[in-house]
Amino acid sequence: MEKILIKLEKHITSAQEGLKKIDCEKKLDEFRVKSMGRKSQLTNILRSIKDLKTEEKVLVGKKANEIKGKLENMIENKMAELQKKKVSKLAETEWIDVTVPGKGHKPGHLHPTTQMMEYAEDIFQDMGFEIVYPNEIDDDYHNFTSLNMPEGHPARDAWDTFWTEEEHVMITHTSSMQNRILKSGSPPIRAIVPGKCFRNEATDARHEHTFYQFEGVYVDKGITLSDMIGTLQAFFNSFYERDLKVKFTPDFFPFVEPGGMVSLECVLCRGKGCRVCKYTGWLEILGCGMIHPNVLKEAGIDHKTYTGFAWGFGLERLIMLKYNIEDVRLFHSGDLRFVKQF
Ligand code: DAH
Repeated sequence: MEKILIKLEKHITSAQEGLKKIDCEKKLDEFRVKSMGRKSQLTNILRSIKDLKTEEKVLVGKKANEIKGKLENMIENKMAELQKKKVSKLAETEWIDVTVPGKGHKPGHLHPTTQMMEYAEDIFQDMGFEIVYPNEIDDDYHNFTSLNMPEGHPARDAWDTFWTEEEHVMITHTSSMQNRILKSGSPPIRAIVPGKCFRNEATDARHEHTFYQFEGVYVDKGITLSDMIGTLQAFFNSFYERDLKVKFTPDFFPFVEPGGMVSLECVLCRGKGCRVCKYTGWLEILGCGMIHPNVLKEAGIDHKTYTGFAWGFGLERLIMLKYNIEDVRLFHSGDLRFVKQF
């Protein structure tokens, strides 16, 4: 019995010594296994108790439990000490200086088409136009018939149309909203329709199957062609941030009479003549005209009392001229080298 008691004392003193050398949690865990685990000296000593006499068993058992408790306490205290050290070390090595100026971060931004769409919307809104967004898929009536192009009208061929299986149209122009706008209230009516359009055509540097248009409508008493030219000129001066000349040349669109094209003094060469304007000094920018009486009638507007004008331009073309972009396909390319420049 004496021997066992001595062994127990020795075990605890050597454990005390061993603990002093431990400097991390991993080593402490190993130490716990070595000094108290199933294969430890302590377990061995405890196993040998069974060979003792009963009264000795009580005595040694008591002592052994004491030693075990002491060991557990020692290990626990050591663990607390190590953790405290670790935290204070962290504070020393991993502190953050919140006063250092930031590196700056670059979040994403709106696509150039969206930026310019909002820019153009603001200009028209400042002039008193309301914004109406189109349905991207619409019916034949709104895309064609209500615009003075009944079924079988040859002018329909001017638009290369995508049809759905249900015979709906992926709108070929945002003029598709004209009839709804004209029906929606009484004059004065001023609205623009910025939106996506689709054409079933092969793409090249100038043509895309998907693009943005701005339709505009203005109806009131006594509206004339010169109101239209003045409105568009004011818009272009704002959009290009300089005074530009515009001119009107007659052309045919079934929904206007007279109809025409508005051309803009070439924004790249300022009218001197360059490759882009084909050395004419002018750029054909949009289709427009005085709204056809049939279109007004179809929408229930008395064409003898009211007149109005309408126009439609492609947004990408305006942006291309503003930033000298040579290929319209870049807008839908998803090429970040392009997008990041805006
Ligand atoms: N919708 C025509 C197109 O897509 C553009 C246009 C021409 C709109 C004349 C108009 C207009 O409102 O009067 O080609």
